Amino acid sequence: MSSTRFLTGITTSGTPHLGNYVGSIRPSVRASQADHVESYYFLADYHALIKIDEPSRIQRSTLEIAASWLAAGLNPERVTFYRQSDIPEIPELTWLLTCVTGKGVLNRAHAYKAAVDKNSASGQDPDMDVSAGLFMYPVLMGADILMFNAHLVPVGRDQIQHIEMARDMANSFNHRYGEHFVPPQAVIEESVATLPGLDGRKMSKSYDNTIPLFAPREQLKKLIAGIKTDSRAPGEPKDTEGSALFQIYQAFASDEEAQALRSAYANGIAWGDAKQILFERIDREIAPMREAYEDLINHPAKIEAILLAGAAKARQRATPFMAELRHAVGLRKLGDQTKTAAQKATKAALPNFKQYREADGQFRFKLVDAQGRLLLQSLGFESPRQAAQAIGLLQKQGASALPELTSQLEALDVDMADVTAALAQLAAAG
Ligand code: TRP
Repeated sequence: MSSTRFLTGITTSGTPHLGNYVGSIRPSVRASQADHVESYYFLADYHALIKIDEPSRIQRSTLEIAASWLAAGLNPERVTFYRQSDIPEIPELTWLLTCVTGKGVLNRAHAYKAAVDKNSASGQDPDMDVSAGLFMYPVLMGADILMFNAHLVPVGRDQIQHIEMARDMANSFNHRYGEHFVPPQAVIEESVATLPGLDGRKMSKSYDNTIPLFAPREQLKKLIAGIKTDSRAPGEPKDTEGSALFQIYQAFASDEEAQALRSAYANGIAWGDAKQILFERIDREIAPMREAYEDLINHPAKIEAILLAGAAKARQRATPFMAELRHAVGLRKLGDQTKTAAQKATKAALPNFKQYREADGQFRFKLVDAQGRLLLQSLGFESPRQAAQAIGLLQKQGASALPELTSQLEALDVDMADVTAALAQLAAAG
């Protein structure tokens, strides 16, 4: 049975927090354990360069994110786990995709557009502080996905547009050069709620309200004590609705545990006690991983070896695939005149002329499209040369030769636009 390929990347621009764990790390580690899936997990460090110009932060974040995935149970034997910048085929593919992507499409990408709109709104030059890297980011992401012909890409809502762009890139490349890419699909995890942060807004580095996933025990406790609550005193019933503390608890607790805390809220539990319950529940899940995490962080060479092995595995696919793509677009050794199977298939899918002799002894030709539908039918010619001349004229001049030939053609009930398109397609194929 052939398997479905999943692929997901995390930009190495920060320290993983509980929101990343609940929204991305935990569900993808679980998904990677299912049968008949082939998964690709990578550290998107080229992407980090778009946002961060502090080299040591990129290195540190790469280490922390890799250690987090591994500590959370990602099995590098079972999945392909690698660092983007270890795969030189990815930037190479980025260029091929750049050349089949409309600039207008990239103009509409959310991240780029938001930056430009913000500048314009404040009366600045629209392109102020906008790097070409930010502009090109969807193409790099397209290359990440298409390099491994992933079928499914689990992402947050903000990334759906990028997956659609990757589909467009796959289709335009296939249209020009034959079928090489599978258009990918986004998978949106509806069930995974976004986790609120310390202040109740979505947990996010940009709000500075995060709880680091592997904060040491004491720090975890302190941070949880800082979660925003209302001013209700011990003994007063409390609302679970809109309570960040309760929502975070729910992301870790079983249904029964959540139900128990719900009752405790109704019965007026003190905020301090609720925070203690939350701390213990999170720590119960995280503590065993924290040990593995700390061991990995203290042995970066172990992680490095795992990533290099992952890159070698990824390149077993990427290297031959890139060779196929280079050939497809015409980046070829000059001695090599052979045609790829895909090219032959394209040729077979073209309209074509057929020349033949009728029972009446006259010579005729017809033009049929790839599906065998009759587009042009000639009347009889005295010699095969005359028929060939008419064909030559159509091949050379396309539809503009038609008026000259009307007296030699049968009137057919076909759309002239189809005939024109077929002739243009033949001319383009040479
Ligand atoms: N852009 C993604 C993010 O910011 C990270 C990413 C890069 C990614 N390349 C990818 C995700 C390919 C999925 C597939 O979240």
